[in-house]
Amino acid sequence: MELSNVRPESMERITNFELANAFIDKQVALVREQVGDKKVLLALSGGVDSSVVAALLIKAIGKQLVCVHVNHGLMRKDESESVIKMFKDGMDANLIYVDATDHFLDLLAGVSDPESKRKIIGKEFITVFAEEARKQEGISFLAQGTIYPDILESIKAAEGKKAVKSHHNVGGLPEDLQFELVEPLKLLFKDEVRVVGEALGLPHAMVYRQPFPGPGLGVRCLGAITRDRLHALREADAILREEFEICGLSEKVWQYFIAVPDIKSVGVKDESRYEGWPAIIRAVNTKDAMTATIEEIPYAVLHKITDRITHEVEGINRVLLDLTPKPIGTIEWE
Ligand code: XMP
Repeated sequence: MELSNVRPESMERITNFELANAFIDKQVALVREQVGDKKVLLALSGGVDSSVVAALLIKAIGKQLVCVHVNHGLMRKDESESVIKMFKDGMDANLIYVDATDHFLDLLAGVSDPESKRKIIGKEFITVFAEEARKQEGISFLAQGTIYPDILESIKAAEGKKAVKSHHNVGGLPEDLQFELVEPLKLLFKDEVRVVGEALGLPHAMVYRQPFPGPGLGVRCLGAITRDRLHALREADAILREEFEICGLSEKVWQYFIAVPDIKSVGVKDESRYEGWPAIIRAVNTKDAMTATIEEIPYAVLHKITDRITHEVEGINRVLLDLTPKPIGTIEWE
């Protein structure tokens, strides 16, 4: 393994702003030295890692950083809008927004196998991003939000350990787009990335937000994705997140979301038969996502969420609670 990919034992854990600021100053100088007056491209999903890289590189090289935000149509409610607001409006970033919703949903139409869905989303994400990269002139570098666990994970993969799911992260650009990498966070653990993010001025809620998988709501709209069920999932998920914020569970629970399966049950609304999908609540706690336990949600909160989802979301007529730990269930359903 490359020596620059090994975290030295002497490297102090970044636990406070003082250490974070020292790290930021050092990386700003290193990035300026590496990049000079050239341009750097970054796929900005809005996740913690890519957002912290963006903030760090904006500080180091300003408009020489070209951020591309690809909306694959599988983002949570208002997510792409908030990426634009934070980076373009708030930090004056050089940000290109690509709305590829129709393209992704057309490709995914009728595809029900989870791994096929993941592969389509991952591959197409790279294709759309590469297309955008080709339109840019004078790009010499590609920035990535690689963090130390990603490096440890790839060592495991190189040793031939079998993965349960094919995780999608940006990487593997086509042959004609081989850029030198800029990876300022690659020796940091997640908790350190968060401290650095806050020291860079990113909002607490953004830096401590729950993990969101690369394939997005695509692996929560179970089976073959349809626009109406995806819409119902997005709305129900927004209600769950809102209610978790209100009762303080959002600070306590590691990951929480809604999944909507492709089944319908019979219900009744306005004295008529009302067929709808069930919304499944999943709320888990974990340290490393390898195993997970179930968070106990107070019944009053569950009742309120059920009431709101079934009244406010068109197409949902039941709310179910997933009590399965990992193992046996993975955190995501697909
Ligand atoms: P599973 O479902 O394997 O998920 O128990 C473990 C954690 O990983 C997240 N996840 C992903 N993250 N790209 C990612 O960056 C992906 O393709 C992906 N799939 C799952 C999942 O949300 C959980 O936090």
